[in-house]
Amino acid sequence: MENEKIIVTSALPYANGPIHLGHLSGAYLPADIFVRYKRLTKSDIIYVCGSDEHGVPITITADKEKLTPQDIINRYHESNKAAFAKFGMSFDIYSRTSIPTHHQTAQDFFMSYNNQGILTEKKTLQFYDEKAGMFLPDRYVEGTCPKCGYEEARSDECEKCGDLYDPSELINPKSKISGGTPELKETSHWYFPLGKYQERLEKYINEANEKFNWKDNVLNYCKGWFKDGLKDRAVTRDLDWGVKVPLENADAKVLYVWFEAVLGYISATKELFKEKNNPEGWKEYWQNEKTRYIAFIGKDNIVFHTIIFPAMLMAWNDTNDEKFVLPENVPANEFLNFEGKKFSKSRGWGIDVEQFLEIFPADSLRYTLAANLPENKDTDFYWKEFQAKSNSELADILGNFINRTFIFASKHFDEKVPERGELETIDKEMLALISEAPKKIGNLIEKYKIRDAVFEMMSLARAGNKYFNDSEPWVSVKNDKTRTATTVNICLKTIYTLAEVFSPVIPFSSEKIFKMLNVKSADWNEIGKTEFEVGHQLNKSEILFTKIEDKTIDAEILKWSNPATVEEKEEEKFPEITFEDFMKVDLKVAEIIAAENVKRSKKLLKLQVKIGKTERQVVAGIAQSYKPESLVGKKVVMVANLKPAILFGLESQGMILAIEDENGKLNVVEVNNSLNSGLKVR
Ligand code: MF3
Ligand code: ZN
Repeated sequence: MENEKIIVTSALPYANGPIHLGHLSGAYLPADIFVRYKRLTKSDIIYVCGSDEHGVPITITADKEKLTPQDIINRYHESNKAAFAKFGMSFDIYSRTSIPTHHQTAQDFFMSYNNQGILTEKKTLQFYDEKAGMFLPDRYVEGTCPKCGYEEARSDECEKCGDLYDPSELINPKSKISGGTPELKETSHWYFPLGKYQERLEKYINEANEKFNWKDNVLNYCKGWFKDGLKDRAVTRDLDWGVKVPLENADAKVLYVWFEAVLGYISATKELFKEKNNPEGWKEYWQNEKTRYIAFIGKDNIVFHTIIFPAMLMAWNDTNDEKFVLPENVPANEFLNFEGKKFSKSRGWGIDVEQFLEIFPADSLRYTLAANLPENKDTDFYWKEFQAKSNSELADILGNFINRTFIFASKHFDEKVPERGELETIDKEMLALISEAPKKIGNLIEKYKIRDAVFEMMSLARAGNKYFNDSEPWVSVKNDKTRTATTVNICLKTIYTLAEVFSPVIPFSSEKIFKMLNVKSADWNEIGKTEFEVGHQLNKSEILFTKIEDKTIDAEILKWSNPATVEEKEEEKFPEITFEDFMKVDLKVAEIIAAENVKRSKKLLKLQVKIGKTERQVVAGIAQSYKPESLVGKKVVMVANLKPAILFGLESQGMILAIEDENGKLNVVEVNNSLNSGLKVR
């Protein structure tokens, strides 16, 4: 498998906000580690990424700041690119989707589909916001569900009761952009027939999984989509920011952002080869059936990379001579949380990369994130863990081992690599570990088990430290210098191997170690066997990792626990009501006497409550905040005259008041237990 060609991509981040640690753990750091490793095995690999610069959220950010979308993307494209570089991301190119090459590429795909009769044009009714002067994407319309009365239902589906309806049936529609009442207006869109590709997609995923072992989280997610059945999807939108639909009667329309963004991987590769003065060179990767293509993403992007993008490529390949490769694997990660809560741009929760790297070195962050990647489940970033891991592993194990070896080599061997004497068992064991480690670590990285690989890297450093201790060179140096020479020689060789195997994770430190050793990084497959020449001159040692002090970490903890530094959620504005209006609400003390889960619902609990002498059934959306048994006996406040509604086939006769905290957790409003149920609250 000499020189296999590989394309690696990481999801193109939206250029309307900074990159935070959650992004890094999802789609960027694991890909960078994989790519850096592959380069050391001499694979012919390209790593492309860039900014995703279209989509409605960017236009909304621009409106809020009274800037143009172009201003916003310019700002974030540049700052994200710089932050990635500082973090050590080794993209071959960090491109962007606003460039002509991308627009052209996306339009070529659209036109090819359209000319081949793959797309269909359909008329639909869609909400139009007169005030904002735009058609509203589904998630920017909110109204009351015609079936269950849920007030935050979307334009064509209710997430509470799961009902799908025609947008014209939504009660009291509101625009989330202007707050005004939108009107339904006729428009037409082009649809991609995703359903027609379902069978082939299932086959493609099954086969890819058999060969390349896809992750369970990804497979399960896809199965869910297949089970529901794939449907036609509109690939155009009524917007003025984006890639224009290249047809005469469509000047107010752009391509749906996801439809073109995934093609950004291809257009970025075209840019890369233009820079290399080889404008056709991209084809040798993308249009080469032997190329391995691996798409790194976070879990919220799965459907686009395992279903939509592959279907788009299949459709192209069916109707064109030049055929694209499909991803052989999509190793999506779960999410990283920050101090126990979800990263949230709108709530200002979670440190971004730029801020972080002003205080701490990139390698400390890379190492601690890599050792705790959300590969199979969500994980957390905690300041204390970050400090502990940096100090007790990077500094105390890896740094310490290298440091003490260098001190010995300079003090007793004139900064030169000494010759080995006869090998004892302990030496042979250490040499065996060195020669096995690169292969073992490489195999784990190949399987996207980066956490395990990082563990093995540190295990080798730990073994080196133990070897140094057990060999007691400070004793042998007094009576058996050959023994000391053997120890130091093997320690230096261990350090060479450590610098190599750690380099995908902590490239900046590895670079320093190579410099101290006065060598360059080697071929990964050779590294365990490479010997220094006897007498090889070493360089002066440098401090590799400084310990992170308590006061630095405590300052961060304080900063992030002080709500003043965290932007407040925008105040919701309510229209004024009169006292009479308020008195129409019949609030009563209720006692919960029974509670159970509702089948098939993650959110709902079925409660029996007592209000004075009467009993009622209430279906409450608090299952994610309370275990049913913990509620029994609580006295709560309830809206007793709410019109009954049916939820999951169960009648709900009222509503229980609850307070939603910053994390979305619901806390029922409890009253003093000595108060009798049935009492009026006013
Ligand atoms: N911009 C998207 C996000 O941040 C990811 C786009 S991935 C691409 O979630 F493939 F579409 F580019
Ligand atoms: Zn509903």
